[in-house]
Amino acid sequence: MRKRIPKILVTGGAGFIGSAFIRLIAGTVLNSPLSVQGIHPERSEGPSGLGLSLIVVDKLTYAGDLKRLEEVKGKFEFYKTDICNKTIIQSIFQKEKPDVVLHFAAESHVDRSINDASPFIDTNIKGTQILLDASRKHKVSKFIFISSDEVYGEILNGKFTESSPIKPNSPYAASKAAADLLVQAYIRTYKFPAIIIRPCNNYGPWQYPEKLIPVAIASVLKGGKAPVYAKGQNIREWLYVDDCAMGITRIIQKGKIGEAYNLGSGIESKNINTVKLLLKNLDVSQNNFKFVKDRPGHDIRYSLDSSKIKKALGWSPKVKFEEGIKLTVIWYLQHKDWLLNREPSQTRKA
Ligand SMILES: NC(=O)c1ccc[n+]([C@@H]2O[C@H](COP(=O)([O-])OP(=O)(O)OC[C@H]3O[C@@H](n4cnc5c(N)ncnc54)[C@H](O)[C@@H]3O)[C@@H](O)[C@H]2O)c1
Repeated sequence: MRKRIPKILVTGGAGFIGSAFIRLIAGTVLNSPLSVQGIHPERSEGPSGLGLSLIVVDKLTYAGDLKRLEEVKGKFEFYKTDICNKTIIQSIFQKEKPDVVLHFAAESHVDRSINDASPFIDTNIKGTQILLDASRKHKVSKFIFISSDEVYGEILNGKFTESSPIKPNSPYAASKAAADLLVQAYIRTYKFPAIIIRPCNNYGPWQYPEKLIPVAIASVLKGGKAPVYAKGQNIREWLYVDDCAMGITRIIQKGKIGEAYNLGSGIESKNINTVKLLLKNLDVSQNNFKFVKDRPGHDIRYSLDSSKIKKALGWSPKVKFEEGIKLTVIWYLQHKDWLLNREPSQTRKA
């Protein structure tokens, strides 16, 4: 009898981090098959020929783009669907019967959440609940929720551990925190097999130009100055997106059900220093930036203690900040059309 091919359903797979995960899995699994805990993938079977079936569910909002997945075209099934549409989500689960759900889909930009929190409440909270219920109903063996370091709020000194209080500040962070707590409630109430991942700021190729790094690069390529909030003193922890995708893969393989994992690099940088490093790599003057009006409620610093994933699962990030920024700038220079043809950023106006 033919064994069933295990399936991973990935929401938000056409987004920045989700697509890095899909490219990683679809690109490497042939040589190094992903051995999902409790699942034994077969090789050279399944629609992708990878021994794993990848299902991507994405609404393709302004932030979603299938171009990010062009290099692995044909290796996944795609559903253009809103995770808030309960009927369609239930029917996809009914048809596909996924073994693992990896939930990235979200409204992800803090400034947009300050302008209008509604889509954040819908997608990030309601959409997560719909996926949790569909996953419970169809008895998935593992539900991985991509949360955020922002759920902890800001920290002036020290680092957040996984047991630090959830104390979000922006509407975006509050919506992620609500979803994070909902996942925790399902774990406790229903013994639901979920794992929570809280990554720090990601950067790298294919990030939509509304976040600091691609906005700065796009501004310079358009002949302008890189906009920096306030005096650029806010500190962020930066993780190269491929390292994040590797960490997520490790957690799918070996993470313990019911646990949360911080996923950080330990690399902290003031925004002004990050922008100056970008300017250096873009080969323009170090003064090619402008300070702009601060974001309301702007968190001063995020910092994660990621020793749990390092010790328990043996993951550590590989890409150093200078190297990652260099790779990122090179990528954007090679993909200028993609960068400059995105919907103009609504934010960081002087
Ligand atoms: N980018 C970061 O630095 C970072 C850091 C920590 C956590 N996160 C979290 O990681 C996840 C991925 O972040 P990202 O930067 O790749 O985001 P992104 O904005 O680039 O991608 C989000 C994806 O979700 C899809 N989507 C949005 N609403 C949807 C809906 N209602 N139904 C179906 N699909 C929908 C979009 O089309 C897009 O493809 C998010 O949950 C985010 O909160 C991101």
